[in-house]
This record gives sequence, structure tokens and C-alpha cells, in this order.
Amino acid sequence: MANIQDYFLQNKQTILEELMSWLRVPSISADPHYRDSVFRMADVVAESLRKAGAEHVRLLPTKGFPVVYGEKIVHPDAPTVIVYGHYDVQPPDPLELWINPPFEPQIRDEAPGFPGNIYARGAADDKGQVFIHVKALEWMLRHETLPCNVRFMIEGEEEVGSAHLPEFLEESKDLYQGDVFLISDTSLIANDIPSITVGLRGLAYMEVEVTGPRMDLHSGVYGGAVANPANVLCRMIASLHDHHGRITIPGFYDDVLELTPAERQALAEAPFDEEAYKKELGVQALWGEEGFTTPERSSIRPSLDVNGMWSGYIGEGAKTVLPSKAYAKISMRLVPNQDPEKIAELFARHFTAIAPPYVQVNVKPHHGGWPVVIPTDTPEYRAAECAMQETFGRKPVPVRGGGSIPIVALFERILGLKSVLMGFGLDSDAIHSPNERFGIYNLFKGIETVPAFYRHYARLKNS
Ligand code: BES
Ligand code: MN
Ligand code: MN
Repeated sequence: MANIQDYFLQNKQTILEELMSWLRVPSISADPHYRDSVFRMADVVAESLRKAGAEHVRLLPTKGFPVVYGEKIVHPDAPTVIVYGHYDVQPPDPLELWINPPFEPQIRDEAPGFPGNIYARGAADDKGQVFIHVKALEWMLRHETLPCNVRFMIEGEEEVGSAHLPEFLEESKDLYQGDVFLISDTSLIANDIPSITVGLRGLAYMEVEVTGPRMDLHSGVYGGAVANPANVLCRMIASLHDHHGRITIPGFYDDVLELTPAERQALAEAPFDEEAYKKELGVQALWGEEGFTTPERSSIRPSLDVNGMWSGYIGEGAKTVLPSKAYAKISMRLVPNQDPEKIAELFARHFTAIAPPYVQVNVKPHHGGWPVVIPTDTPEYRAAECAMQETFGRKPVPVRGGGSIPIVALFERILGLKSVLMGFGLDSDAIHSPNERFGIYNLFKGIETVPAFYRHYARLKNS
């Protein structure tokens, strides 16, 4: 069989160039200004899929951005893998903190024995990781080693909550017949400690508006006599956690599934270096819910965070003003069995109830998503485990991730299909942050691992 390493040696530059052409498209789904670019990105992905040898490649319309489809059916009786990923990206701001402009990819950090990182918005989340699957398919088709049927579902609205995808899934049940979803949109513990994500947190995302006086006021003439909605909002938000780091919304923890000591013990097997973690993040100390470790706080426990806040004057210099309104965007990460809609309601009720009489509160829910836990005693988990064992030379550790991919729970609910979260990024890739990157090592390790997954999956499904 042809050696994939030789293929990398001969094609490294062309492969990197093709990924860079993906990274040059500013497919920011959240910003209406970039609408055309998001559509163009769908075409770019489709073109690469065609070039790789996928068949029936086309854009499937949704009520939002299209889904890129492509397939390769090798045999009607072979198991079918559906590759899911997203071609949209998060907004790149704050722009001034980027070393290279976010949509002008650059390779840096090359060192002896380390091929460097590719810096651009979307490099790891999720273009680089979707690209892995396209190149892996290309390699398997060139060498006639594809043992499974494959279908692609690459969407363009993941970063804004996949609002139109549930309806799309309902309508596409016939097309998307398959056995399992294969998703690379998560991270490894480290390049020498491979891992497979077996859980994702859910999400309830809220926006709040606090209104005080009916217009902005002079902060000297009125300050001290009229409640400032910015001050009030800060106090309300501060009250959402108690001194034990627990969330104070009544009923918030009612449905939280507590792990058994044995389950917590098993998760604690995943290596974690608290000192390195603090150093990496530039913090002197950590914070969180009492009674839980840092990895637990960011995976098996729910959380509540302000994602953005604004009010009053934020331009250059000082303007004395007592603002009329203050706003915040607040996310709650959920764990099994919390229901995103129920949590959104509990939040709205509580936030309204704690509003003092001198302000009015308006709460608006944004997107949400269900948490996921993935069993490990399945052919697909074992296939991913065998594949990584083979290419990384070490058995991957199951870990529960803290992020969300809202659609994964619905793959099971709507299509009855489980997912494998075999991601190749690193937590240090700075996804959603300035200077997002993806390791070139990780890119090629991914392209090498995916064909091994197909091989093991075909074997385990047939036995
Ligand atoms: N790829 C991430 C999710 C992720 C990252 C999971 C790292 C596990 C480890 C995904 O693109 C993402 O950012 N999801 C959003 C969902 C939201 C916008 C609805 C998130 O988690 O904030
Ligand atoms: Mn992603
Ligand atoms: Mn993301």
C-alpha cells in the first residue's frame, strides 16, 4: 500500500496552499456584511471536495447558509460515515491583537522537529479540521483504500447556533442515510496525549437590557439621586454566583446529573497540569465551583459567564454621563440533563425577579443547545481509538469537552445517529481568540488518522 508519509513529503506545499485559500475567505456567519463571503466559502469547500474525487457535490440550500454535500458510495453494504463540520468562523475582533491579519494566513513557529503553526481565523475551528477530511478522502480515493461509504455535511451556521439545521435534517433524512457522524471540531489533550471527546456541554445564551432613566443624564447633576443601570446590572450579574462559586438561579441545578465517584475517578485519569494551565492563561489563581477540580468545572459542571457588556460612553477620553441603558450577553453552559429552554426560562424569571424597582429589565433568549454524552462501548468509538493508537502510538484518553456543538444532540434525536468527536486541535489553538492557529503537525496527523478510522470502522462493523 502506498505510504501516506511519502504523499505528505511530495505534496506538503500544495496541501498547505489549498488550506490557505480556504483561510483567506472571511466566512463570518454572525456579521451580515460578510454574507457573500460565507456563500463563497461554501463554493470553495465544494470545489475542494470535487477535486478530491467526491461525487454529487453540491450546495444544499437551508433557510440560512447552505450545507455542502458530497459523497462516495463504494458499496451498498459498506457502513456509511457522515462527516460533519462547519465552514463558518467567529468574528476575528479585536483586530489590533492579531500579529498577521486574520484572513491573511501565515505560517510561524517553525523549529527543528516542529513544522510550525498556521495562523488565521478558522485555522483550527473548523476549516483546518474539515480540510483534514477532504484530504483524507482524496488520499483514500487515489489509493483505492476507502472501505466505507462517505457523505459530507459541512454547514455554515455552527458559530451562530445552527438555527436552520434542525429543519434541514428533518427534510434531508432520505439523503443522509448513514451509520455514524464523524466530527473533527474538538481538541486533543496534547500532541503526545491523544484524546477523544465523549461529551459536550449544552448552551443557553441570553441577552439582557436594563433601563433606568428615559435618557442619558449628566452624571454630576443627577449622579447619586438616580440609579445608574450600569451599576445595577453589575450588581445583578454579581449576584448570579454565590461565595461557593455556585449559580444562584433557583432550580438551576435541579436536573444536573451528578457523576458517581467511579466516573469522576475515570475522568481524573486524563493528565492535567494546573500550573501550566495558569501560566498559559496568564492568571495567578483559578476560580470555580467549590468541591470540583478545574477539568470538572469546565466539563461536567454547568457555568454562567458574561460574554459582553456595554453601556454609557466607551469612546476616547472621558464623557460624564449617567447612561439610560446597560446591556449584557450571558451564556450558560449546560450539562446532562439540563434542558436549554427550561434554563433560559429560569434565568429570565430570576433576572426579572431580582430587578430593583428603579430599573426595568428585558431578557431576550438567543440560541441554545442540548448537552451530549457519547458511549465508548461502540464500534465507532473503538474505531477512533484504534486509529489514534496506530497513528499517535498511544491509546487515546476519553475526555468530556466544555464547548458546545449544538447540532450533535439533534443528530441522535432526529436521525437516530451517534457521533464520534475525533478532533485534532489543541486547547492552546486560541479558537475564538486573536491569533487562532492550527499546528501543521496536527493537520497531517489528522489526514493520516482519518483513513485508519475508516479501516477500523469497516472491520469492526463487519465483525
Ligand atoms: N468547535 C467549537 C466547539 C468546541 C471547541 C467544542 C472546543 C469542544 C472543544 C464550536 O465551533 C463552537 O465554538 N461552538 C460554540 C457554539 C455556539 C456558538 C452555539 C460554542 O461552544 O461557543
Ligand atoms: Mn467549531
Ligand atoms: Mn467555534
